[in-house]
Amino acid sequence: MTAITARAHTNIALIKYWGKKDPQLILPYTDSVSLTLNDFYTDTTVEFDDALTADTFSLDGAAQPTKKITPFLDLVRQRAEITAFAHVDSVNHVPTAAGLASSASAYAALALAASRAAGLQLNEIALSRLARRGSGSATRSIYGGLSIWHRGDDDATSFAESLPMPDLDLAMLVVLVDAGPKPISSRNLMANTVATSPYYPAWVTHNQKAAQQMVSALSANDFATIGHLTEQSSMQMHATILASDPAFTYWTPETLKAWAIVKQLRANGIPAYATMDAGPNVKILTLSDYVPQILQALQPDFADRVLTTMPGPAAQVIGGTHV
Ligand code: PMV
Repeated sequence: MTAITARAHTNIALIKYWGKKDPQLILPYTDSVSLTLNDFYTDTTVEFDDALTADTFSLDGAAQPTKKITPFLDLVRQRAEITAFAHVDSVNHVPTAAGLASSASAYAALALAASRAAGLQLNEIALSRLARRGSGSATRSIYGGLSIWHRGDDDATSFAESLPMPDLDLAMLVVLVDAGPKPISSRNLMANTVATSPYYPAWVTHNQKAAQQMVSALSANDFATIGHLTEQSSMQMHATILASDPAFTYWTPETLKAWAIVKQLRANGIPAYATMDAGPNVKILTLSDYVPQILQALQPDFADRVLTTMPGPAAQVIGGTHV
């Protein structure tokens, strides 16, 4: 049968997703808004093969367990009305030890490659809904540039859509605080935050409003508001996590050090805003003109541990035996 290779880029949420209303379908409590990045992506090749007796999965050439991807491939098989198992080979193009290996690019690439290899031609919304079933943040990695994930209230209404790019040269710096594996998965910690953090309901109300404010700020090319909302959404997510039982934070002293540099840059008139995800690394949203000054400010503490990137493209098919 046909082998298809798809590429999807990772994304960083400016307005965060944190918490599932429906863990089975991965329906989030709030909308989220993200920027797809140019330099970090996953290439995945899928081939369904009637001769196989089980799915196979390799990542960067090493065999992996299939317990997460088989249920995902089952969704594709059901929809395409096929029964064959598949070979899945993924390569993560994330700079070595960047600590950015993301389920977002992984499931977006898998959704596109698997659906095409199974003979389906899904539109972007259908692909976004499919990617969502693998990992929440993957819902947004179908699109290039900016996208918004509408939380929706069922499988059909929870999907991402592209947002117009503002007339701004957005850039993002990634400060590699720690490249090690996460101490706790976002999946488990999200569930515990929803269940135990007394601040969670307040976060939902506030973050939902922030998503709408972000859409307005983007269409107004208002970078000060875009940056402010970005930093606020992340800080409020981490505050809500910290208030969980047991208390927890992904941050390390180096996370705070990087954030302090960002605040100092802002005090000096440089538009730089920090955002952190399910790990200690700090991403800095800025405008490309300011990248050299920000790199200079980070140099003493983080030297060669900073990567600079720009908005990236949508998920796409990049090869196949019968594309
Ligand atoms: O897609 P998941 O389940 O890995 O969740 C990711 C959650 C954050 O990255 C912290 C925020 C987001 O919106 O991407």
